[in-house]
Amino acid sequence: MSDAPVTRQEGREKGDPYELETPIPAPVLALVAAMVAFGMAYILAAAPDQRPELGDQRTLADLAAAPGAKAGAAKADGAAIYAARCAACHQASGLGLPGVFPPLAGSEWVNGKPELLASILLHGVQGRITVKGLAFDGVMPAFKDQLDDESLAAVASYARAQWGNAGAPIPAGTVASVREKTASRDTPWQGDAELAAVK
Ligand code: HEC
Repeated sequence: MSDAPVTRQEGREKGDPYELETPIPAPVLALVAAMVAFGMAYILAAAPDQRPELGDQRTLADLAAAPGAKAGAAKADGAAIYAARCAACHQASGLGLPGVFPPLAGSEWVNGKPELLASILLHGVQGRITVKGLAFDGVMPAFKDQLDDESLAAVASYARAQWGNAGAPIPAGTVASVREKTASRDTPWQGDAELAAVK
């Protein structure tokens, strides 16, 4: 600013804007610092990671019994295996898809001899197969390399107890003996033609 006399016109003008210097007030800074320090001291003093009563209270035994627990713990769950491995084709209803995937509900193959069902599950089927009087000609995958005896027995037993089926459960031992007897086989059963012999 110069000391030249202010004219009337100049006197009417507002002063030029200028930036105020407004630092964070010291009391606010002190308060924030105090809160941070308190928080750190509190966490260190309370040591929440060293108090077992705040942790996961489940014991090993609880976890082993939990549904879906991994290998070795619980028995194989036929319903879960069916949902994961079979339902995509044979449907959750067990009715299959007409003309494409044969039904398991009321199927003579499912409710027949345990060895027959075990054979089908272990090696799969292809070619013409008649189910409840209707012909199917598709490919059923083999499960011998994907499911162990216990899992196959569980899913077979599940299928024999669902959708109005009334076959007796199949023990894992039956699957094991069929697996052994047919060990040399590396192609699927050729539908009716070949399975009739097992039937
Ligand atoms: C990729 C589709 C597919 C999957 C997955 C599948 N199947 Fe099949 N399944 C078929 C087809 C197709 C046939 C008929 C094969 C043929 O026409 O020769 C069949 C036939 C069968 C048969 C004999 C015919 C009947 O309807 O009774 C049984 C039993 C059977 N499957 C059970 C199972 C079980 C149990 C599973 C799961 C572990 C399973 N399948 C998984 C497609 C599938």
